[in-house]
Amino acid sequence: MPALAAVRAANAAFSPAYFPVAVFVGGTSGIGRATAEAFARYTKGNAHIVIVGRNKSAADEIIASFPKPTKPEAKHEFVPCDAFLMRNVQATTTSLRERLPKINFLVLSPGLFNFRGREETAEGIDKRLGLHYYARWKFVYDLLPLLRKAKDAGEDAKVMSVLGAGHGGAVELDNLGLKKSYSALKAGLTSPTYTDLMFEHHARENPDLAFIHINPGAVATSLVRDSHWALRPLVALASALAAAPQDCAEYVLYALFQTERGFSRRNQRGDDIGDLKHYGTDDERERVWEHSKEEIDRALAVKVESV
Ligand SMILES: *[C@@H]1O[C@H](CO)[C@@H](O)[C@H](O)[C@H]1NC(C)=O
Repeated sequence: MPALAAVRAANAAFSPAYFPVAVFVGGTSGIGRATAEAFARYTKGNAHIVIVGRNKSAADEIIASFPKPTKPEAKHEFVPCDAFLMRNVQATTTSLRERLPKINFLVLSPGLFNFRGREETAEGIDKRLGLHYYARWKFVYDLLPLLRKAKDAGEDAKVMSVLGAGHGGAVELDNLGLKKSYSALKAGLTSPTYTDLMFEHHARENPDLAFIHINPGAVATSLVRDSHWALRPLVALASALAAAPQDCAEYVLYALFQTERGFSRRNQRGDDIGDLKHYGTDDERERVWEHSKEEIDRALAVKVESV
């Protein structure tokens, strides 16, 4: 386990020979925000940084805090996207594919924290599974060509999902998407396993790209403010014991920078945990892949009144 000082030093050594493009989905709060800020700091603002999220005023604040770049290509922008709906994700990825020449780093961290049961969007996707898994699935699937372009130019091309590596559960093939039987706890175990399987699928097809699933551990974030009032004392207690988002972001960036290629599962200290508590067979991986694709296509086909 590298010490925080060593992790900071390793991150500070990041000095790519190319001009980096990084997209942070869910980068307006919590760990996503802290990671985007650390990335801006280590690149001295000399990067194209795209923050995708819902909160424009938060994004404006974050971007204003970035170091002022010295390179003319540098750009820091906010792209609004309510990732609860797959059609919004699709609109965002379509526009990014039209505008961006490539992506070097795609970091996904949109989250939802409560203990309610299944809550469906107008597209019929459970909100929790949607943000933690299906929306991220679609971002990766749609933006893969831009990551390929970076890799084919000899540059870094890395995808990271900030979720719960090592904290998943077994795949229930008769309950894919938890449509038959659902609980917040079950959903909490399902998204990490599905994430592993999704990244394994991609890593097989694109072995020269890096796919990183990290468990950030408990992080003190705005979840306290956003959580249900009855849970606040509990969440606040957990937060008091949790790492500061800035420290956590150092480990997240470390895992991002240090993973060269392939699928890597990382813990809250940036260590590779290998196959620890890994679930899913080859068959389950492909079944979950097909389910995900079908579920997103089904959601996109739903007629939605106003979006
Ligand atoms: C959006 O961000 C601002 C600034 O950080 C914050 O004050 C506000 O509460 C956020 N709004 C929501 C809906 O989270």
